[in-house]
Amino acid sequence: MKTFINVQDLGDLKKALAEAAEIKADRFKYQHLGRNKTLLMIFFNNSLRTRLSTQKAAINLGMNVIVLDVNAGAWKLETERGVIMNGDKSEHLLEAIPVMGSYCDLIGVRAFAGLKDRDYDYAETVLNQFIKYSGKPVFAMESATVHPLQAFADLITIEEHKKVQKPKVVLTWAPHCRALPQAVPNSFAQWMDAAEDIDLVITHPHGYELDPAFTGNARIEYDQRKAFEGADFIYAKNWSCPGVANPQDYGKILCEDMDWTVDSAKMALTNHGKFMHCLPVRRGLIVTDEVIESEDSLVIPEAANREISASVVLKRMLESL
Ligand code: CP
Repeated sequence: MKTFINVQDLGDLKKALAEAAEIKADRFKYQHLGRNKTLLMIFFNNSLRTRLSTQKAAINLGMNVIVLDVNAGAWKLETERGVIMNGDKSEHLLEAIPVMGSYCDLIGVRAFAGLKDRDYDYAETVLNQFIKYSGKPVFAMESATVHPLQAFADLITIEEHKKVQKPKVVLTWAPHCRALPQAVPNSFAQWMDAAEDIDLVITHPHGYELDPAFTGNARIEYDQRKAFEGADFIYAKNWSCPGVANPQDYGKILCEDMDWTVDSAKMALTNHGKFMHCLPVRRGLIVTDEVIESEDSLVIPEAANREISASVVLKRMLESL
């Protein structure tokens, strides 16, 4: 596997889930694969889970790890071509990328959407430059439009906790005080749609329609309470306007209605549904204390499974070197 961006990169999902279960049972089974191999993790944005879980997965596989926080100690990077670099950016990404590639065997990149220019973000301009110019296998650690390590961990978690063969999984928009990217809901929808045995329903206010390239066959239900009825899993997330119907609204907050917060009364409409969120989560906006602290909350095992999803991805990439 030379790139990991979309669900298709992993091939057969059932095989990938079996591999995840195998690694979870014996995390050091493939420790020989990473001997004398180096992972470079590049962060343009903050992280807790991705940083720690991916590093742990690499260590489990016997790798060395280098972490670069671009905005804390490195030269400020220019990402656009054709600019006169007379501002505060000292180095161009087009030199920096091959230099970084020369120090490692695999590269993970975190580079969020700027939410200013939909075309720029949805072209995955930064991530694709790493793929093109690093000469090394590259995986997304949340890019402008996708967060596949998270979605894979979410799928592993659902597989572990489902009580019916084909669970009803609801992706619900919830309010937030800042404009957030669409990477997590995009990947969650893409991965749930690709998993054959999941009934995916997406609920959000009007104007928050995700790009159909990610939502596939998912059903859209604008009535959140109706969507929750009989659900086995509730996956809450905020996202800003994806600009599908109205490109001029891309990245904007269109709704601040606190009636979309996930609370116990709504969870009572589900089929004893489990609550999920990728974290970090803002309590009181996305979800109430009561729900996230309940025994039906899966947020901690879900985060723990990030080590497993990263392990499968790194193993596949090491095998392809
Ligand atoms: N869910 C997730 O990616 O968490 P971090 O932003 O802390 O890495």
